[in-house]
Amino acid sequence: PHQWRGVIEEYRELLDLPPGVPAITLREGGTPLVPSSWLSGLSGGDVWLKVEGDNPTGSFKDRGMTTAISCALAEGAKAVVCASTGNTSASMAAYAARAGLKPLVLVPEGKIAAGKMAQAVMHGAQVIMVRGNFDDCLRIAREMAWHYPVALVNSVNPVRLEGQKTAAFEIVDFLGDAPDYHLLPVGNAGNISAYWLGYRQYKELGRATKLPVMRGFQAEGAAPLVTGEPFPDPETKATAIRIGNPASWKLAEEARDESGGRFESVSDAQILAAQKELASRDGVFVEPASAAGVAGLLQDLSRRETYVGATVVVTVTGHGLKDTATALEGFGPLVDTVIDAEVTAAAEAAGLERI
Ligand code: F0G
Repeated sequence: PHQWRGVIEEYRELLDLPPGVPAITLREGGTPLVPSSWLSGLSGGDVWLKVEGDNPTGSFKDRGMTTAISCALAEGAKAVVCASTGNTSASMAAYAARAGLKPLVLVPEGKIAAGKMAQAVMHGAQVIMVRGNFDDCLRIAREMAWHYPVALVNSVNPVRLEGQKTAAFEIVDFLGDAPDYHLLPVGNAGNISAYWLGYRQYKELGRATKLPVMRGFQAEGAAPLVTGEPFPDPETKATAIRIGNPASWKLAEEARDESGGRFESVSDAQILAAQKELASRDGVFVEPASAAGVAGLLQDLSRRETYVGATVVVTVTGHGLKDTATALEGFGPLVDTVIDAEVTAAAEAAGLERI
């Protein structure tokens, strides 16, 4: 019986890792590419969702964490550190647990979705809250790894991008070629940089005949790549991408320029509306940040950008169950109608006529 072996074993010869490094894996990757009939219908293109919430800890971070933790262990690390808006810390904690490493996470105080926090503590991480934002956390994490015996596993560690680029490989393996457009949310800008690495590598190997146009979407209140200036006080309900000074700024601009792409911002209202539509129309429940690419596609269409006849992949980066509080905010009380335990009362509440 065959099961997907995780991104290191599936793609080892294509990853720039120390030879023979033992894989610490939860069988991440191999995520579904789900056709969106809703977005295909609206755009006249062939729109696919790369559903990264289906990874073991519920976000794309697992792809880069299997490589980062495997390398950290091979290099003799005893403890690992990351700065995070939540998903990186959840993923790091899980892989560190498997590797027997001590996970230490730095998160911005009060801005982490509860699901992500639960994951980090369940996997045994020490969670340190910083009075500051993600950018402050990353600065501290870098300095810690420099002066103290802990290995840094943020995406400034190039081994992270090696793992994350496998998402591009999977897309080309499945579609038979690169898509025409690739849309995705952008925060610290590691993911868009990793996709671009992966697409370029496949093109060079002759496994793809073309490269996609990369379009990255940031939240309006945290859009440094759109304005070209860091945001000292980034703010958005999409806490995963609440980042004012992305670490992979240069690489992301290269991806934009080499692909003929661009960065744009979408408002929190657009993000939350896209999240809701995606859940109720396509059955795909993602966290707010993860809907930024879909919000971007809808915004492009409203501005008469055409995707007619194009193959479009939109990465949805993390699972909706990570942040149920934000999802439920729009709904008022969860239960509107309370009835006596009778079928007639249930039918009446549902507005159904007896047959
Ligand atoms: N979507 C989700 C759900 C994320 O968690 C992140 C980043 C992004 C998109 C943006 O990806 O940073 O590579 O541009 N989350 C990081 C974290 C910062 O700490 O979990 P990026």
